Amino acid sequence: MTPVSAGIADEILALKRQRNAVILAHHYQESEIQELADVIGDSLELARKARELDCEVIAFCGVWFMAETAKALNPTRTVVVPDREAGCSLVDSCPVDMLRAFKRKYPDHVVVSYINTSIDVKAESDIICTSSNAVKVVNSIPAHQPILFLPDSNLGNYVKQQTGRENMRIWQGACIVHTTFAARKVMEARAAHPEAMVVAHPECPANVLSQAEFIGSTSALIKFCIESERNSFIVMTESGVQHSLRKFAPHKQFYFVTNENCNCSECPYMKKNSLEKLHDCLASLAPRVELSPELMERARLPIERMLAVK
Ligand code: 13P
Ligand code: SF4
Repeated sequence: MTPVSAGIADEILALKRQRNAVILAHHYQESEIQELADVIGDSLELARKARELDCEVIAFCGVWFMAETAKALNPTRTVVVPDREAGCSLVDSCPVDMLRAFKRKYPDHVVVSYINTSIDVKAESDIICTSSNAVKVVNSIPAHQPILFLPDSNLGNYVKQQTGRENMRIWQGACIVHTTFAARKVMEARAAHPEAMVVAHPECPANVLSQAEFIGSTSALIKFCIESERNSFIVMTESGVQHSLRKFAPHKQFYFVTNENCNCSECPYMKKNSLEKLHDCLASLAPRVELSPELMERARLPIERMLAVK
């Protein structure tokens, strides 16, 4: 684990107090950012937390769509992100105009949008889901109702298989990190570590998921590995989860399978954030999420519908 430089860490903590700020961090952030965060979580936990916060500023160490969600749930708070370029390939795969065109063609479809979408797409959606509640959200929709699930095709196929829904169209978007995990590499990892259990995020391709003994959201994977009686795991997700795994299960072994593009398992968008940029965004309150009240109101409704699903 990278030791946090005391100088900049102290400055960030001082700025945090001065700004009455809360630092939220996704599990895919660098360890040194997670060390300073008030809350670490997956996208659902961070969305829920964002709704409960008592602070003036939210410094959102994750990607832009997550910060937009936090802003829509907290319109009166200032929400800043260390790097404006912290985007997501799934967001890019679903421009709002394409969704509007789909809705004109298929007005009877309920639009279920993964939280990894722009705020404009959320505002055009009927209900949002995350990787931890996607199956429950789809099951909450009457069986006869046709559904459009967007934008992640791997998650969509997994949800379709889990729910047995026939009438579900799936957008063809992908996460550039998870979709490039290859089944062949999982087999190689299994051969090298036959004692290890394979755990995977549902954004992985079907031929990777079919080899997994546990499939779940980022936090669900971490919890499973920590609480399991087993001691070694092949982990098919972004390597930022090592921070919590090594902290809470230091005696266990975790093997990360690298993807086909960069020979790593890091999200280049998540890794745009750094301690220096976190410091600067708290100092200057920029880059800041600014959204119109009307857009926030329209996007809040499908997010609140998701948060109400038990
Ligand atoms: P989680 O919902 O598991 O946090 O996933 C978010 C994400 O971006 C996965 O790549
Ligand atoms: Fe988007 Fe994939 Fe990065 Fe998650 S890991 S933020 S889905 S590109």
